[in-house]
Amino acid sequence: MSLFDSLIRATLPITPKPMVGFFARRYVAGARLEDAIATVQRLASEGCCATIDVLGEAVSDREQAKAAVRDYHQVLDAIVANKLPANVSLKPTQMGLTIDAAFCQENIESVITYAHARGTFVRIDMEDSPTTDATLKIYHELVARHPGATGVVLQARLRRTLADAQSLASTRANVRLCKGIYLEPRDIAYEEPEIIRSAYVNALRLLLEGGAYVGIATHDEWLVCEALGMIGRLGLANDAYEFQMLLGVDPRLRRILAGAGHRLRVYVPFGSHWYPYSVRRLRENPTIARVGLQAFFRGRLES
Ligand code: FDA
Repeated sequence: MSLFDSLIRATLPITPKPMVGFFARRYVAGARLEDAIATVQRLASEGCCATIDVLGEAVSDREQAKAAVRDYHQVLDAIVANKLPANVSLKPTQMGLTIDAAFCQENIESVITYAHARGTFVRIDMEDSPTTDATLKIYHELVARHPGATGVVLQARLRRTLADAQSLASTRANVRLCKGIYLEPRDIAYEEPEIIRSAYVNALRLLLEGGAYVGIATHDEWLVCEALGMIGRLGLANDAYEFQMLLGVDPRLRRILAGAGHRLRVYVPFGSHWYPYSVRRLRENPTIARVGLQAFFRGRLES
């Protein structure tokens, strides 16, 4: 890691919020639903679809969780009204997981029912490891009641993921596979990037060979290349999987994959709670601060 990157990481906690906002704005569509709609429309004109995320997490108040449910209902109305090629992603702790698991499940079910009635789909994001068991339990209960209306996420960095992938493949689940953004202790997670890559390939193979619909969520071109090899060997039709990328990360790769005819879904977060999400993204890749500075002097950021 360069000195610049270490400096960015070390100073993030004391960096003024507006400055974090400046560097992070490429990752977030904006504060308002209209911003997310405009972003999804722009992505659609590039041949991409989207998953819309109302930013928010670690809710400790029931009313806040209920407000998040209402926000998602509004997003789903906007998807229908604007005929957007989009579904939604939500976080269990935004739906009240740390308050009470049953309350959280009820809230997620409300969003799923609303989405399903409008012909769309809800992805349950995966957060840090203390929430993994509860999230998978909620997913299994809800998908049993609403088949095809929801999917979950697996994180390749977790040592348990191969077993989880096996069990999800056996139900031909809809699974987003990512590396995992939360730093976890070594006893439960791999730490070396090359091992995480290898774990990703193993889980992806299990899922695809087992007939799961996989959202291949990565910007790591080596992994994209491995995934393309597997898709080719298995002879999968291009509606049997999709690639997924985050808004603001490697738009060129996004266009290459979409241009080659692969379904490409972009994660489009928006909302007033943009700060923790942006800090995570900046901590993950401080280089973006350098890109942001260059863009500041040159003109605008490509997203
Ligand atoms: P890697 O981190 O190696 O990145 C590969 C390349 O992509 C880098 O070299 C860099 O060029 C570029 N890049 C990556 N991150 C960047 C960034 N922040 N800014 C600029 N460039 C960047 N995690 C999780 O724990 N739970 C979840 O539910 C989700 N959901 C999710 C949805 C979608 C659609 C995606 C794409 C990712 C997630 N993630 C996630 C995040 C995921 O776990 C992981 O942290 C990131 O995708 C980065 O990992 P890569 O596989 O891209 O590899």
